[in-house]
Amino acid sequence: MRFKANAIAGGLLIVALVCPIAAYGAGPVQLPAPRTEGGKPLMQALKDRQSTRTFSDRKLDPQTLSNLLWAAFGVNRPDGRRTAPSARNRQEIEIYVAAPDGLFLWDAHKNALNPITDRDLRALTGVQSYVRGAAVNLVYVADYPKSGGGAGDADQDILIGADTGVIAENVYLFCASEGLATVVRAGIDREALAKELKLRPGQKIILAQSVGYPKK
Ligand SMILES: Cc1cc2nc3c(=O)[nH]c(=O)nc-3n(C[C@H](O)[C@H](O)[C@H](O)COP(=O)(O)O)c2cc1C
Repeated sequence: MRFKANAIAGGLLIVALVCPIAAYGAGPVQLPAPRTEGGKPLMQALKDRQSTRTFSDRKLDPQTLSNLLWAAFGVNRPDGRRTAPSARNRQEIEIYVAAPDGLFLWDAHKNALNPITDRDLRALTGVQSYVRGAAVNLVYVADYPKSGGGAGDADQDILIGADTGVIAENVYLFCASEGLATVVRAGIDREALAKELKLRPGQKIILAQSVGYPKK
């Protein structure tokens, strides 16, 4: 009996390693609760923050992905506020996750990944060759109506850019703390990617960010 339990546990572990997020088609994928303890001291993470453009083949396990997304823009207070500030608390930036087993939209409040396609679209999230090899590519998409600016609001682009930048820096610091490689990117074919993301009118791709383990 014990052998059987060990064999099942071993099998689940293999599935988790080979298929880091989930089989596509089963609806939203619940991520494990983020682990919010530990990590490097802040000053050390700042010291180690850098852009890295070479990635190993190693995938992110669900726990690391959950921690990463929470650090990026997770809910950190009972009133629904987040790990990154946003102008007027509009929380208008959504994070899409391009992984080997598909493209997902992260729901920060449920900490779940909503599948969009089972195709590997990592290469499409950037114009540089290293992008396809990163374990995940995060795509930061602004919901302009949610950001609240009316037509002609000259500040809207500035505020959305700033809101995206602070999320990207959270990811940089998480990666520095965890020994992960990352680079934030403006180099994106936005038109081609927007089609695959199935964006609504009023949504716009702002930046993308590659994350993975560094190539040794
Ligand atoms: C808004 C923004 C856009 C960027 N776009 C790209 C990009 O498209 N491709 C890329 O390889 N790096 C990109 N970078 C990374 C910068 O090149 C990098 O931060 C800079 O060279 C300084 O290096 P460091 O991050 O290691 O300090 C971008 C950085 C920022 C802040």
